Amino acid sequence: MNPNQLYYGDNLDILRAYIPDESVDLIYIDPPFNSNQAYNVIFSETDGSSSQAQIQAFEDTWRWGETTEQAYHELVVTAPHLLVETIKSFRGFLTETNLMAYLVMMALRLVELHRVLKPTGSFYLHCDPTASHYLKIILDQIFGIENFRNEIVWHYRRWTGAAHRFLAMHDILFFYTKEKSGYVFNPLYADYTEKSLKRKQNYHTRIKGDEVYVTSINKKGVKENDVWMISVLNPQAKERLGYPTQKPEALLERIIQASSNEGDVVLDAFCGCGTSVAVAQRLNRLWIGIDITHLAITLLKYRLADTFGDDVKYEIIGEPKDTASAKALAVQDRYQFQWWALSLIRARPYQGKKKGADEGVDGVIYYQDVDPNNLKKTLHQKIVIQVKSGKVSVRDIRELKSVVDTQGAVIGIFITLNPPTQPMVKEAAAAGRFQWLHVTHTTYPKIQIRTIEELLGGRGIEYPQMPVDVTFRRAERAAPPSHQLEIEAR
Ligand SMILES: C[S@@+](CC[C@H](N)C(=O)[O-])C[C@H]1O[C@@H](n2cnc3c(N)ncnc32)[C@H](O)[C@@H]1O
Repeated sequence: MNPNQLYYGDNLDILRAYIPDESVDLIYIDPPFNSNQAYNVIFSETDGSSSQAQIQAFEDTWRWGETTEQAYHELVVTAPHLLVETIKSFRGFLTETNLMAYLVMMALRLVELHRVLKPTGSFYLHCDPTASHYLKIILDQIFGIENFRNEIVWHYRRWTGAAHRFLAMHDILFFYTKEKSGYVFNPLYADYTEKSLKRKQNYHTRIKGDEVYVTSINKKGVKENDVWMISVLNPQAKERLGYPTQKPEALLERIIQASSNEGDVVLDAFCGCGTSVAVAQRLNRLWIGIDITHLAITLLKYRLADTFGDDVKYEIIGEPKDTASAKALAVQDRYQFQWWALSLIRARPYQGKKKGADEGVDGVIYYQDVDPNNLKKTLHQKIVIQVKSGKVSVRDIRELKSVVDTQGAVIGIFITLNPPTQPMVKEAAAAGRFQWLHVTHTTYPKIQIRTIEELLGGRGIEYPQMPVDVTFRRAERAAPPSHQLEIEAR
């Protein structure tokens, strides 16, 4: 098995099925905060602005229902005694609310995460003040109060519309270790401010001949404290991929540098578009990423490919590998299936301009081309994609043809789980070819049908590949850590 692993699925199932006891050196998690919002993934438009096309990535709400009731029962029966008492008393006063559901689901996962952590390992939980006070009580019961190390305040500045209260400008990170001593900790240092440096130097220098020696101040800088001022990703930030809750790499650099060494295993069980994974890879750690949203996994795959190219090796577990498992995914969740199918041709999901209206488009690919009539002008060409997991007929192809026209697209792609009928193939061929005037009159089929089996077998789609593909925002090629903190020899 490859040491780097990317899992698609519910982290509770995956932790239980795949991750052995005491096998991980560092865990960072940034779960949904129960803030009752449905997050949208906002893709960048071809001109770099935000697109109207948004897609609901995941619901940041865990409601009380049958699943939570079962999870509660499981906790009461299996969890350590003190945790059971805590959860029972929470239910006494919170009752069957969404907050209680959230805490039950989190508690189950936190027990598993504690299990997989090595005795020398560290754990960071990223949350906000919505539920942090309850989560800390739960963590105290699972890790032990004596293993609490820090409450880190990540302070940032951002535009916020809060009225009649102070502006909310921080998140909380709880830092626990599995044991009280023997854990990995590499102190981090920040630069002295010029003012403090001057003041200290004036006081602590010794002059020998022409040389000035700094004596009692630490040359590495000032020891990092528990309030971290790190900017949030602004819409123009280079590392921004468009995933709604993407965290800055500088934040993860601090955690990974402080609490792991090269070659250690870093686990993120709510990895989103993979900030922790990308930083772990860059800092030569091994990594495990888990996410339940196919869109997150897709963005993460692109991020790794764009940042590290062939230098990154990993295994993907939980993604369909053949038609049978693709069928299973389609039955389980139509949208996840659609997102996955689109990722096979690197298309992005599409949600029309009018919310809720079905425009007959499931995905799009954009590429830049040169206007053959004016070589100085750039055109943004569009390819529309339809994905079908059920029965298909010639009517679907006729419909796609008219969608291509109404959308002003140059090509239409029809992805299907079931094989196309003969009339469908004929109808597609009758649509003719799109002529790429720019390069020696090359042509491409205007309507292309691909089965999932063909795509899995490596058959791609045909469209002008030379111009820039601007479908997704691309991650930058890996560079040295942006936050160069010196690590004290241990
Ligand atoms: C706040 S986001 C994480 C963002 C991430 N830190 C980043 O920088 O991109 C939370 C993620 O948890 C995922 N998630 C929610 N419930 C999950 C579950 N039960 N198992 C695995 N992932 C889950 C969501 O799909 C979402 O991507």
